[in-house]
Amino acid sequence: MATEVLVLGNFFPSVMTDLKENFSVLHMQNADELAKLDDEALANVEGFATFGWAPSDVIDRMPKLKLISSFGVGYDGVAAEYAASIGVVVTHTPNVLNDDVANTTIMLLLATMRRLIEQNQYLRDGRWVNEGNAPLTRSIAGKKVGIVGLGRIGEAIAHKLSVFNCEVVYHSRNQKPDVTFVYYGNLVSMARDCDVLIAITPGGPATNKLINKAVIEALGPQGTLINVARGTVVDEAEMVAALQDGRLGSAGLDVFEEEPKVPEVLFDMNNVVLTPHVASATWETRQAMSDLVVENLTAYFDKGAPVAPVPESDSLLNS
Ligand code: NAP
Ligand code: 8YV
Repeated sequence: MATEVLVLGNFFPSVMTDLKENFSVLHMQNADELAKLDDEALANVEGFATFGWAPSDVIDRMPKLKLISSFGVGYDGVAAEYAASIGVVVTHTPNVLNDDVANTTIMLLLATMRRLIEQNQYLRDGRWVNEGNAPLTRSIAGKKVGIVGLGRIGEAIAHKLSVFNCEVVYHSRNQKPDVTFVYYGNLVSMARDCDVLIAITPGGPATNKLINKAVIEALGPQGTLINVARGTVVDEAEMVAALQDGRLGSAGLDVFEEEPKVPEVLFDMNNVVLTPHVASATWETRQAMSDLVVENLTAYFDKGAPVAPVPESDSLLNS
């Protein structure tokens, strides 16, 4: 009997084709459809492909579950510790998206500091003809940029920023032994010293509102905040208030607390650039992420060794 895999959500056709070659596939479009499904239909499911969503109650509906293959590097929506505690391995899709996420970050930074959207509108509104040259903006060259979370993507961003002649510093819980960028153990101190902060940590309880009022105010009226991590990493209400009353200079945001809802007050702010959680959203990178979702499933069920397990699953695989 073929191993049963539950696929939740709208994956690329190649994922469905590849999975059907190796597994018996049960496809549910969304969480509502899954909620309506009889538990009996899930009784023999051993693999679960999902877009970053697997809470413990959903895991519990699959008594034979062995592997959750999550699309995306961030897995804050997957109960990975709980899964490990009941012997279920979780995998994700790291590294293949580093370049595009780092490029989106640089794009947001340039667009925010050079006021790309505002300049574009200035021209389209006929103001160049009627009023003359648009206002000057700020250069990113020579600016001190603090990366909050110098992991796989943070390092890719740091190296790209070096080419733009930015001075890169970073904050994380642990200092990295193998990098030359200056480390700050204290995030408020780093924000005070920086022109720009870039958030690129995981989401979840450990980073909830890590960028709080004190950090935002330390970054200050001339400062720029770029968030490509998760909306929860920044205190969104504080950030919006600070942007409104000039305590924070500008922001480039790809992620939000309650996606796809975005505080509408941001829509009218010229000092803000908004993108709808698209940092990895190119055909090339999404294909590579999709392939890794499949490889994690096939490598686990063929050899017991998935390509990219999350750290919470290490003890299950090394024992
Ligand atoms: P990673 O390699 O695990 O790096 C995460 C970094 O964050 C590490 O340097 C870690 O260092 C630091 N960190 C973790 N918890 C922290 C805390 N409480 N305080 C300060 N620093 C902390 O992960 P990655 O592959 O670079 O991905 C990072 C995240 O980017 C993902 O989890 C996801 O949330 C986000 N992301 C967003 C998009 C998007 O579309 N916008 C796309 C891809 C990824 P320490 O452990 O030493 O603290
Ligand atoms: C995903 C992301 O594409 O990888 C991540 O952590 O945020 C994005 O690259 C997004 O989560 C869609 O599932």
